[in-house]
Amino acid sequence: MNAAIRSVTRTAIYNGLDVKGIYRGYKGLITDEILPFMTNNVSNIIQQGGTILKTARCDEFREPEGRKAAYEVLKKEEIDALVVIGGDGSLSGAHIFAQEYDVPVVGLPGTIDNDLFGTDITIGYDTALNTIMQAVDKIRDTATSHERLFFIEVMGRDAGFLALNGAVASGAEAAIIPEIWTEVDQLEELIKSGFRKTKNSSIVLVAESEITGGAIGMAERVKKEYPQYDVRVTILGHIQRGGSPTASDRILASRMGEAAINALMEDQRNVMMGIDDDVIVYVPFSKAVKKNKPINRDLLNTLRILSI
Ligand code: F6P
Repeated sequence: MNAAIRSVTRTAIYNGLDVKGIYRGYKGLITDEILPFMTNNVSNIIQQGGTILKTARCDEFREPEGRKAAYEVLKKEEIDALVVIGGDGSLSGAHIFAQEYDVPVVGLPGTIDNDLFGTDITIGYDTALNTIMQAVDKIRDTATSHERLFFIEVMGRDAGFLALNGAVASGAEAAIIPEIWTEVDQLEELIKSGFRKTKNSSIVLVAESEITGGAIGMAERVKKEYPQYDVRVTILGHIQRGGSPTASDRILASRMGEAAINALMEDQRNVMMGIDDDVIVYVPFSKAVKKNKPINRDLLNTLRILSI
């Protein structure tokens, strides 16, 4: 996110525009936590995780009165266009706001979940994926030495991108993901595949989700139905959302930040920046937040083949 903030700020200034940083997202927009940004406000941040602007959940912005208050602050601050960086919730808010008020709004997809439609990849996803891979590499040492079955829960809020790609990258035996939950009993399929014939240890990545019950839900089932396994659970949690971003993420955020300012200068509005086959595209908010992004089913097969 910091790489994106840096890019938006510097591209705007390069083009002769004034920039203001809004702290704590929509909350700070309503309470007027806004400061002018110069190029040095974004110095030395490209390598930092998190966001220098801070972030906050904002229930008020879900209500018309909250959005009206936000609009009043925008007018007072003489802000005439908005760049929103965030995931599904932030961009849904941007979508509604842009429909209600005559303010050009563009968005950047900032979420580790990679669950926004219309972009191959989102800002933060690659860093989270690498963190998962490194964590699983470490857990594997215990799994192998103690001959255990590990369920490792990764983030994704009902999306399996991190679990599936993380499983392939870390050489895990399987991924349990919400997208195919109703199609197949993934746990039963895994056990029936005889996955332990040639190995004594196994690692399964589980997407956090109410539907899957997460890693704890899986482990409980195994303990009951297949007590022969020595099962352990690790929940990776917020280590996935921090740390210095990868080169890919920094480059993606830099490109998208520049594109956001270009889009505003081209009179675009209500669009999210996306990347499609390495080309920047504008995705209408209505599609980005409303349509479900499909997982790559070929990758499920790749995982099955490689885990024999
Ligand atoms: O949407 C990003 C995400 O990291 C999800 O994968 C996860 O469910 C959620 O945020 C965690 O949010 P919080 O930090 O509020 O618990």
